[in-house]
Order: sequence, then C-alpha cells, then structure tokens
Amino acid sequence: MTGKLHELEKLRNAALLGGGKDRLEQQHEKGKLTARERIEILLDEGSFREIDMFVKHRGTDFGLDKASFPGDGVITGFGTIHGRMIAIFSQDFTVLGGSLSETNAKKICKIMEAAMKMGIPVIGLNDSGGARIQEGVLSLGGYADIFLLNTLASGVIPQISVILGPCAGGAVYSPAITDFIFMVQNTSYMFVTGPNVVKTVTHETVTFEELGGAETHASKSGVAHVVGENEVQTLYLVKKMLGYIPQNNRDTVSDEPFVEAELLLQPDLDSVIPESSTLPYDMKKIITALADEGDFFEIQDRFAENIVIGFARIGGMSVGIVANQPAVLAGVLDINASSKAARFVRFCDAFNIPLLVLVDVPGFLPGTEQEWHGIIRHGAKLLYAFCEATVPKVTVITRKAYGGAYDVMNSKHIRGDFNYAWPGAEIAVMGPKGAVEIIFKKEIAESADKANEIDKKVTEYIEKFANPYIAAQHGYIDEIIKPSETKHRIVEAMRLLKNKVDRNPKKKHGNIPL
Ligand code: HXC
Repeated sequence: MTGKLHELEKLRNAALLGGGKDRLEQQHEKGKLTARERIEILLDEGSFREIDMFVKHRGTDFGLDKASFPGDGVITGFGTIHGRMIAIFSQDFTVLGGSLSETNAKKICKIMEAAMKMGIPVIGLNDSGGARIQEGVLSLGGYADIFLLNTLASGVIPQISVILGPCAGGAVYSPAITDFIFMVQNTSYMFVTGPNVVKTVTHETVTFEELGGAETHASKSGVAHVVGENEVQTLYLVKKMLGYIPQNNRDTVSDEPFVEAELLLQPDLDSVIPESSTLPYDMKKIITALADEGDFFEIQDRFAENIVIGFARIGGMSVGIVANQPAVLAGVLDINASSKAARFVRFCDAFNIPLLVLVDVPGFLPGTEQEWHGIIRHGAKLLYAFCEATVPKVTVITRKAYGGAYDVMNSKHIRGDFNYAWPGAEIAVMGPKGAVEIIFKKEIAESADKANEIDKKVTEYIEKFANPYIAAQHGYIDEIIKPSETKHRIVEAMRLLKNKVDRNPKKKHGNIPL
C-alpha cells in the first residue's frame, strides 16, 4: 500500500505543477497569479476539493500526443466562501495557454451540471487563449456545451465570471451569458476579434488594453460589472458580492445582525435636496445614508453613470438598489442606463432579492442619437423588467418623476408594493417649462410680455402639478414621508414584504424587447 500511496502522491504533485515550474514563474512575471493560487485566495482555507485532477486530453494532431498534462489546463472542484458551498473552475494558462479542449470543456460542464443539481453558485476564473486550435471542431463543440449550460443555469444558480487574462473570440460568450463579469486592471482583456484582425478589417490601430481591457469594458461597453485594481482585490470583491446573493433561485439571502438603533431618524437627509429643483445632487449620498454602515456594493459604477445599481444591506436585509443619479445628465434615462438597470432588476427578481428604487428622473433622453439607436427598444427593457418582477419592490421618489419615466421607475401601476415620495417630489407628465409652452402656447403668443407670461404659468403649473399630493390623492403614492424617516419606512416595508407572494401568468417565457 505504501507504494501505491507514494504513487498517488507523485501523480498529485505532478498535477499541481500544471504546465511546469518555468511556466508558473512566467505567469508571475506577467503580474498574474497561478490558477491554483487564485482558488486558494478566493476560497475558505483548506476547503477546496478538486475533481478530475488526472483528466487528460485525447488530441493527437500537431504534436498534442507529446504534450499531455494532468488536469488538461483547467482546475475544477468545489469549496466554500464564507462557509457557503460553491463550484469553481480555474483555467490554467501554463498548460497550452489555458486553451479549451474537448476534455477541458467536459470538466467545466461536469461541475456546472453538478452545481445546478446542488443549487450552488458557479464561479469561473478565466485565463485562456480560447479554443484549443489543435483540436479544431471538438474544441468549438466544447464551448457550445458550456454556452448551453450557462443558458440553462441562468436564473437557476448565480454564475460569476472573473476574467484574469485573455478571453477572446467566441470564448467571450460564456462570461457574457453569466450574471456578473469581474475584470482586473491591466492584465485581463476580452474581445471578439483581436487587434490584428481589427487592423486588417477596419484599418484601426488599437492596443489589447484599448480594445478590450478592464478600463474599456468598465466605462465604454458596460461588459465588465466590477473591476479590481489587482487580482487579489478582484477576488476579494467577488467574495464580498457573494454575500448579497443567495445560493440559488429557491433560496433567499440570510439577514445579517442589525442594530435597531440604526433606524433612528436621519436629519441630514432632510437637507440633501437643493432648494432649486434644477440643481444636481449626488444620489449616492442618499444610498450610503440608507445602507447599513454606509456600505454600498456598486455594480457597473463607471458605465451609464446616470443610473446607479448595486447591493446593500438595509436593516440587515440584502437589497438590490436602482437609483437615478441627478448628478449625471440630470438622472435622465437613456439607452445604456435602461439596459444596465434592466439586467440588474432581472437578476434580483430571479434570485429573490428585494428591490429598492430611488427616483429622481426628468424623463427619457431626447435626440436623434438615442432614437436612432433604439431608445424605444432599450427603454422598454427597463419597463418590462420592473413590470415582470415579483420580488418585494419599494420606491422612494426623492424629487422628479416625470413622464413615461415615472411609470417605468417601479411606479404603483406596475406593482410597486410601497411607493413613497418626499414632500418636494414633482410628479407630472412633463417639466413645468416644457408643459407650459405646450398647453399655454396661444396665451404666451398673444401676451405682450412673453417672459412674464411664461413665469406666471410656470408658477401656476408647479403649484398645481409639480408636487406629490395629486399622486397621493389617487393612491399612486402610499405615503409622503420626510427624508429623515426614509430608512425606517424602507425597513418596515421590507419586513412586511418578507413573505410576499406574487405570480406572473404561466408561460414558456416572456419576450423581453432585446
Ligand atoms: C492552443 C494555445 C492557444 C490556443 C495559446 N496557446 N493559445 N494553444 N490553442 N488557442 C499556447 C501557445 O502556443 C503557447 O504554447 C502557450 O499557449 C502560451 O501562449 P503565448 O502565445 O506564448 O502567450 P502570450 O504571448 O501571453 O499570448 C497569449 C495569447 C496568444 C494572446 C492568448 O497565445 C494568442 O493569441 N493565442 C491564440 C488566441 C486565439 O486566437 N484563440 C482562438 C480564439 S477563437 P507554447 O508551448 O509555445 O508555450 C476561439 C473560438 C471559440 O477561441 C469559439 C467558441 C464558439
């Protein structure tokens, strides 16, 4: 037996070396961690249980018969993060560039299928040169098998992709289907075609980083949800976000201990809105005031900054927050803001995370740019997402709620459970000046002092419409509350809604405007 144990030890040690010492060192020289180091950092100490350590590829072409590594370039298994079970795969760039082979794909599919049965999240650590070129269509088939499972698992278990190196070609579509993409600054990139192909086809000269680095995907494309400064911080952020989400779509997130004293009034909020309704303010100040310990985990913080999304604990409960940001483009809804928020709302709804919606929105962004790129289609996504969501939904209108955007931002009409407004809220079809110029067009045209006439009518309109009381008279607002009472009300509402049951009609699936 001793001999056999020794042999097992030898084989295990060989597998631990991945592509060999030199390549592991090269990985460090590139400023990257190895596939195993990443797992160690992410998971609770000693919790990782690897499977399929001795799987090898079956390729024979182009010298593959002489290049065989135990594990075949991807480490797979299970472990815990803060005591919660997860499934994980970590691509090993030191083995044939972490490229995806037939067997390598099978290993990934195996843990994904298991995770779906067990109801646990899957985390993928991506660092790969893409399809293993020597295996041809077998490798493409492997990707397709993963894409299918990504899709089947969507809305069933949370799927998180962490990009820690190259992720190119069709390979990008696995992370793209998952719920969240984390990237790391300077050493990760994603693109469908690389700089060389871009140069040939479009004659553009662009670096890897410019084309598909973390900065690009965080601020321009919105592909990256969270960006870390380095690998260790990125992995820490993954752990942190996991704390806000449940294990699967039948589970809910456990509450954290909460000091009731934190529900005391917050007088600072009573003065957060500027006197003039045209002046901006930072919605994130309100969010951090409402979040327990001021802790807000923002998602896509540099993309479509006119809307803010992310997770927080409020009264110990995990809550998904969607908030217009008056400090950026006056908080207007545009194409990017709509699709950013819509996807987040759908994630929260799929995984039983209550929604808190903070509204200060002047409407949808006008202009040919927006119309021609489909603001109708994209704006409809957000409307659809809020309409279909059956999780607890609480809305607070802090200031403006104009036009269609009033309806869209989780209004009472689309199943908002508790809809509050602050006393300075303006809820109407459109802003005072625009409205006056339309409905009093004749009077203004006939007036000798047009400016004065407009001012007079604007004042009349504000008194009549730009307030929350008419909506409250109709029951469209449940209560007009003082800003200082807001956290208290939200916590009460969320507690009341803990066992909320609401169902949509039975269907195969809806047809969200895409
Ligand atoms: C097989 C690969 C490989 C691949 C890299 N390697 N990519 N082997 N298939 N796709 C191997 C290299 O031959 C090399 O082996 C080792 O991995 C390290 O690669 P280097 O090129 O030395 O590393 P680096 O300079 O860091 O460059 C990394 C890279 C580059 C930018 C990722 O390797 C690259 O461009 N690879 C090809 C990327 C690609 O076009 N993939 C196909 C994408 S299309 P040795 O033994 O020499 O050290 C695709 C389709 C998916 O993936 C379709 C799904 C539907």
